[in-house]
Amino acid sequence: MHIVFAASECVPFAKTGGLADVVGALPREMVKLGHEVTVYLPLYARVRPLLSEGNGGKSREAVQSITIPFRYYNRFAAIVDGGRREGVQFYFVDCPELFDRPELYGTAGGEYADNAERFGLFCRAVVEATKWLGVPEVFHVHDWQAALISVYLRTTYADDSALHGAAAVLTIHNAAYQGKFPPQTTEQLLFPWSLFTMDKLEQYDRFNFLKGGIVYSDLLTTVSRKYAEEIQTAEFGEQLDGILRMRGPDLRGILNGVDYARWDPAADNNLAAHYTAENLQGKRACRADLLHAFGLEAVGDGVPVMGIVSRLATQKGIDLVSRIAEELVSRDVVVTALGSGEPIYENFFRGWAFRHPGSVAVRVGYDDALAHKIEAGADMFLMPSRYEPSGLNQMYSLKYGTVPVVRATGGLDDTIEEWDADARRGTGFKFAGYDPKDLLAAVDRALEAFQDKEAWARLMRNGMALDYSWEGPAREYAEVYEEAARRRA
Ligand code: ADP
Ligand code: GLC
Repeated sequence: MHIVFAASECVPFAKTGGLADVVGALPREMVKLGHEVTVYLPLYARVRPLLSEGNGGKSREAVQSITIPFRYYNRFAAIVDGGRREGVQFYFVDCPELFDRPELYGTAGGEYADNAERFGLFCRAVVEATKWLGVPEVFHVHDWQAALISVYLRTTYADDSALHGAAAVLTIHNAAYQGKFPPQTTEQLLFPWSLFTMDKLEQYDRFNFLKGGIVYSDLLTTVSRKYAEEIQTAEFGEQLDGILRMRGPDLRGILNGVDYARWDPAADNNLAAHYTAENLQGKRACRADLLHAFGLEAVGDGVPVMGIVSRLATQKGIDLVSRIAEELVSRDVVVTALGSGEPIYENFFRGWAFRHPGSVAVRVGYDDALAHKIEAGADMFLMPSRYEPSGLNQMYSLKYGTVPVVRATGGLDDTIEEWDADARRGTGFKFAGYDPKDLLAAVDRALEAFQDKEAWARLMRNGMALDYSWEGPAREYAEVYEEAARRRA
């Protein structure tokens, strides 16, 4: 079966979060299962240098010009051939006025004002491009940025015989990001006003990309079983729970996998040393390397190191961390944190490190190599998310023998099992209430368990032994594609 992936992020081209990891790994896995996969991405400024490598500085156009009409003008997008990598074909939508910018979605000053036009164009260009380059059996579209593909297929392009048989599957990686724009977006993107109703594209008087995808896709998935249930409730549904309950029978929860080609302490190029569950020796060198990277060389041998790698958004529960910050440093523990995002959380981390040099160290920014070093060098990984659709970092932590301390929500709840010292079972520490006391209690359970070296080694190995590779999830996606295609036929 031919599947077209459309998304706004994909490693190694452009990444702000886990979406990029997923789109970078799942297509390869589908190819292994015998499917043909094409991935479409926007051609951001940061992508251009990666494309011209090895081609004499020039990139190759697969389609020279696609006309995308807007209300008062046309835009023209080229489709650049990114070549085949590990069996997966990549194409990039090139529209420099919209994508040749330093960031993906916006700057510290705010979201780009024309994001509806940018991702509206992206979606329509992908649909058009497939008519030249191959209409798939299934379009697999990711998050709000690609969600309008499903809408275009069933509205603007409903009578196009070339596209008629193509099914659409939407994966919701995060229901809180919906792509909400003013009502006029309807006519800017040349949709009839009849679509701006609450059973279609309208949501509280806004034009809502994600809602459109939810309404018009043949099947929906999200990235863990627990989150699939959660988003059908008012607490987690971000005001889309009504429509998600209506489409509940068509919604599947498929937990994300881990790309062990990129995240494995036995082969990770970013580390000072390699290690495995059988031979944990190298992890000591990784700890020293991590402490060195954060200027914490003076930290004593037996002191547990806690790691945080996070987008600094409300979702990630950083406000809970801030409320136990002073108590936490009164324990015998050091904290190494990497993150960037909302200024309020960046400033909390800066202040915390400033007050406690020697036990709290922070890097504000985005740094892939350092993220790997933290996964390897820390003893514990803190992820107290308010909600977490899947979460990848806790699964990376398991593989790296870095024990996760997590809140029992979404994919965190699905992947981490509380440590039971008597039975010697479990992989981490979990708390349920969104409450600083509960977080601190979980951290204290972890610190206590850390004192028993032998038990701790068992706890580490329990996590390292788990297999969260993409093989299983890829099979589940294959079933979803087949079901979607059957329904279309
Ligand atoms: P989310 O997608 O909600 O941010 P995930 O746990 O699914 O959460 O994925 C986050 C991904 O982004 C991981 O690969 C993580 O290592 C990476 N990441 C997050 N923040 C940073 C950062 N500041 N520097 C480097 N990598 C980061
Ligand atoms: C989103 C979610 C995260 C998930 C990622 C990839 O960014 O916040 O939990 O792992 O998408 O699906």
